[in-house]
Amino acid sequence: MNVMHLSAECYPVAKVGGLGDVVGALPKYLCEAGLNASVVLPYYDRKFVRENTFDLEFKSSIKIGTKIFDYSILKESSRKLGFDLYLIHIPGLLDRQEIYCYPDEIEQFISFQLCFLDWIVKAEIKPDIIHCHDHHTGLIPFLVSHSSSFKSLASIPTVCTIHNGQYQGWFGWDKVGYLPGIDLSKAGLLDWANCINSLAASVKCCWKFTTVSPSYLEELSYNSNGLEKLFQMEKNKGIGIINGIDTQVWDPENDPMIVKNYSALTADTGKKENKKLLCKEFGLTTNKPLVVFIGRLVGEKGADLLPEVISSCLERYKGKLNFLILGSGDPATEKNLKELSSKHKKHYGVYIGYDEELSHRIYAGADFLMMPSRVEPCGLNQLYAIRYGTIPVVHKTGGLKDTVIDLKNKNGYGLTFDDLTIDGLTNAIGRALDVYADSGRMTEIRKKMMSLDFSWDRSAKEYIDLYKSLITN
Ligand code: ADP
Ligand code: GLC
Repeated sequence: MNVMHLSAECYPVAKVGGLGDVVGALPKYLCEAGLNASVVLPYYDRKFVRENTFDLEFKSSIKIGTKIFDYSILKESSRKLGFDLYLIHIPGLLDRQEIYCYPDEIEQFISFQLCFLDWIVKAEIKPDIIHCHDHHTGLIPFLVSHSSSFKSLASIPTVCTIHNGQYQGWFGWDKVGYLPGIDLSKAGLLDWANCINSLAASVKCCWKFTTVSPSYLEELSYNSNGLEKLFQMEKNKGIGIINGIDTQVWDPENDPMIVKNYSALTADTGKKENKKLLCKEFGLTTNKPLVVFIGRLVGEKGADLLPEVISSCLERYKGKLNFLILGSGDPATEKNLKELSSKHKKHYGVYIGYDEELSHRIYAGADFLMMPSRVEPCGLNQLYAIRYGTIPVVHKTGGLKDTVIDLKNKNGYGLTFDDLTIDGLTNAIGRALDVYADSGRMTEIRKKMMSLDFSWDRSAKEYIDLYKSLITN
């Protein structure tokens, strides 16, 4: 079965968050299960692209609006990722260093999608499934069904995965001319609230959509940044499939990025050594519980709560713990987090920026990972924390609700809380301190977490079943 994944991110080529992790892992596991899964990505000017060799697969040009773009399709030649990787190169438009936030982002992602379709039509490639990820590739289901330019693709089933429904790829109707050959009587399928909405169009036009956890599918019906009615109407087309993790990349026993490798049996000593060096690096004392946060510093992640939570915990628990933050995002939150450093020396460390290696060292060295997310479609951080024997402290929402069982339950291993306020998180961290005070319990919880299986094997199978159901119908 030939499944082509289209995405804006794919680890290790281009990653901003969990989308990259998923698209860098799921296709590998699909290939291991015997499918022919590939990934199609924009050609960015990034380290992986510069340092690897690519073969020219195809070359052509396409008219988008009034402009003609030359494009080429490059294929990674060594198959080192475990699947075929194709890059769409549009000089001047896609070959940039950042993935998002350019003023012409809409033009970038429309062109990416159109070149993909143009290529597979002209090269007569007929995938069994086209699998689109998030709004950046959300126009594909509409275009294959309702554009005369791509009518040879109309019978190909399309699957769309929603990793984050907050971002939807909106643009004005003045840009409809970018979409070639479309049947204007079907234009309503592109519309939501008088805008073209790429995510809404994908949900309306795909054969099936998936969300990255079952709880998130439920939540979209009442919290989806304006698309609630759409998700209520289309709910039966949706399936919640929890993300897995790439256990080859995230493996404390073999991770080359951490100081000391360890297994479930050696977690206490292994983590201690990782913690020692991590604390030294950030000027923290090592004999206290280390509570960390890793992630995008945005409202969805509850990052704005962190500065006050840190101060409130250090005051309430009289400096009996340390905090470490890794993230970047909202400038006001970045500033507030930086300013805390002078106030809480020895108890608080922060790195504003993106650092993949540091993230591994933090998962390995931390005792607790907090995730006060307001919205969390799945969340991978808590799964990495679990794999590295770090206890997650999470707000009960979305995928966090589906993956973290509170210690109050017999089979529990994490700390969950409902009250998403400064007080609510401060209380949850208070519970963490109680757990930490019992070293035997810490050992037992670490062992339990590290024996859990959140690998892709299970979830990849659910995607395969979905693909099969679409092909045979
Ligand atoms: P999201 O995709 O919403 O950002 P996820 O929990 O699914 O959240 O995935 C986040 C991914 O990005 C994880 O792999 C996490 O370790 C990584 N990450 C987030 N921020 C940083 C950062 N500043 N430095 C390194 N890795 C980060
Ligand atoms: C999104 C979500 C996150 C999810 C990730 C991968 O960015 O915010 O919860 O884990 O995609 O699916």
